[in-house]
Amino acid sequence: MMIKNKKWILKERPIGLVKDSDFELVNEELPAINEGEILIENIYLSFDPTQRSWLNDVPGYLPPVQIDEVVRSGGIGRVIDSKNPDYKTGDLTFGLVGWQTHCLTKPSVEDRFRVIPDLLPMPTMLNVMGSTGITAYYGLVELGKPKSGETVLVSGAAGATGSVVVQIAKLKGCHVIGIAGGKEKCDWLKSIGADDVIDYKNYDVHKELPKVAKNGIDIYFDNVGGEILETVLELININARVLLCGGISSGYNSTRPADGPNNLFSLIIKRATMQGFLVLDYLPNSEKALEEIATWVLEGKLQHREDIQEGIENCPQTLNRLFTGENKGKQLLKI
Ligand SMILES: NC(=O)c1ccc[n+]([C@@H]2O[C@H](COP(=O)([O-])OP(=O)(O)OC[C@H]3O[C@@H](n4cnc5c(N)ncnc54)[C@H](OP(=O)(O)O)[C@@H]3O)[C@@H](O)[C@H]2O)c1
Repeated sequence: MMIKNKKWILKERPIGLVKDSDFELVNEELPAINEGEILIENIYLSFDPTQRSWLNDVPGYLPPVQIDEVVRSGGIGRVIDSKNPDYKTGDLTFGLVGWQTHCLTKPSVEDRFRVIPDLLPMPTMLNVMGSTGITAYYGLVELGKPKSGETVLVSGAAGATGSVVVQIAKLKGCHVIGIAGGKEKCDWLKSIGADDVIDYKNYDVHKELPKVAKNGIDIYFDNVGGEILETVLELININARVLLCGGISSGYNSTRPADGPNNLFSLIIKRATMQGFLVLDYLPNSEKALEEIATWVLEGKLQHREDIQEGIENCPQTLNRLFTGENKGKQLLKI
């Protein structure tokens, strides 16, 4: 079977937002499939802020994408040929398939290929029923340990991860404040249960946060880092939990490490904890989270939205949407 693949390879390390010219869209004919390999026809690609950091030549939790390598990304596809006993033609798989139409690979632990159930819509599987939901669940529930009546603040709150955190915090009986960019996102956050919202693009968080966090902040689920983190540290309560999920306001688009807050002393005064975490550590044992999330979704208690762009040629611009805030929900691309 002769298969033509289209793939985006990295040509130059981007500076700031990516440009099409940082990459090259290459057409190739794939070689015959070898023993142990599978051939996947990619259907949806997942776009995650961390993908941008993989394009920088700096050490991270995964090695940087090298020049002339396919751009790394997660995605869902269907196995169309297999010489591997663990996969059969027709299986739906999730893994690091990359920005390409097809993925010929010998599945490895590093690529995280796994067969997924063919029950729910694929965009849902890449959002709440995938690593986005698992990030929100383990970050908030396992590490944050929210108690009813506590105040939970979420930044990047209208995004894929943030919006799940907001809703789980409500399900746990917390008072929830969400920070997001723009009226549409803030209105949507209210519609899914946030008690208070702050539109950081049109209002000063430093001034607005004390007005809505009247009882202080017990849990801060941080998706953005930077100045907002510093502001929040001034308002945390005794025994607060600050959960560092991401720092999209600084660092990802830059080659120098993000600046930290200058008021960490607040953690001492408030006997608070600040903890970073990576969803990768929770993926192998995510059944508990996925079962509970699936129940909430089926009961209509957990809303989710996906922003689906189309066409392999639009990969670079789709990545940028995460950094301009254009994405309304989990950013995906349908090939
Ligand atoms: N630790 C982990 O294992 C893990 C796993 C998944 C995700 N994450 C992190 O979680 C965060 C959210 O990821 P996601 O995939 O759910 O993406 P997302 O929230 O759906 O999309 C990114 C959002 O970030 C906001 N943003 C962009 N630039 C910003 C800036 N300069 N300041 C403040 N907000 C900005 C935008 O929302 P607005 O329009 O509201 O600005 C944008 O929609 C990211 O930091 C990501 O790295 C961490």
